[in-house]
Amino acid sequence: MRDNIDKNIPAQYATIALKTKALGFEMPSDLQTGSLLKTLVASKPGSRILELGTGTGLATSWILSGMDSGSQLVTVDNNGLLLEVAREQLPDVRIQFVCADGYEWLTGYKGERFDLLFADAMPGKYDLFEEAFALLNSGGIYFIDDMLPQPNWPEGHAERVASFIKMLEQRNDLTLTKLGWSTGIIIAIKTRNNK
Ligand SMILES: C[S@@+](CC[C@H](N)C(=O)[O-])C[C@H]1O[C@@H](n2cnc3c(N)ncnc32)[C@H](O)[C@@H]1O
Repeated sequence: MRDNIDKNIPAQYATIALKTKALGFEMPSDLQTGSLLKTLVASKPGSRILELGTGTGLATSWILSGMDSGSQLVTVDNNGLLLEVAREQLPDVRIQFVCADGYEWLTGYKGERFDLLFADAMPGKYDLFEEAFALLNSGGIYFIDDMLPQPNWPEGHAERVASFIKMLEQRNDLTLTKLGWSTGIIIAIKTRNNK
């Protein structure tokens, strides 16, 4: 077996990738992350999905391609320029694009819970984790990437990552698996609604 991703890549992916490069966006998710997200999304028909940190929509395109007709995605980013690429390339009534600060969005959100959360921005991951995790249904998936050292990590980030992983591992309201694959992925399943 080879774990390369060269099949069933979303139709919009290549154009989004070109636009991503043209914008000089340096934090795009990779193909493996996208493929795994699509697979997990496909396991949850009729689900509500949340992505924090849309970027230009690379992972969004994978998530969309795994969604059935009854699933919905809310995706949030505070960068209107990046979000516009995603909005333009992925016009779909099942997606709600939200241009907002993730800190404000997370603290103000009062809607229904979600079945899968791709936390790909500081808010919802290293900051406001409790608020984000509280938005998941029991059995919901908390998904993060970039957990292995990346060239763009600022000084002090490695320590932050290590203590975040330790916090996750010590919790008794989730079960997780760490994957030293792609950029380093953690899949955590919420096992009950309240800690
Ligand atoms: C790692 S990138 C997301 C990559 C994207 N998921 C992909 O598939 O390529 C992080 C994103 O978080 C966004 N972001 C940073 N701070 C934010 C904030 N306070 N609120 C909302 N989004 C934020 C950035 O604009 C950036 O697009």
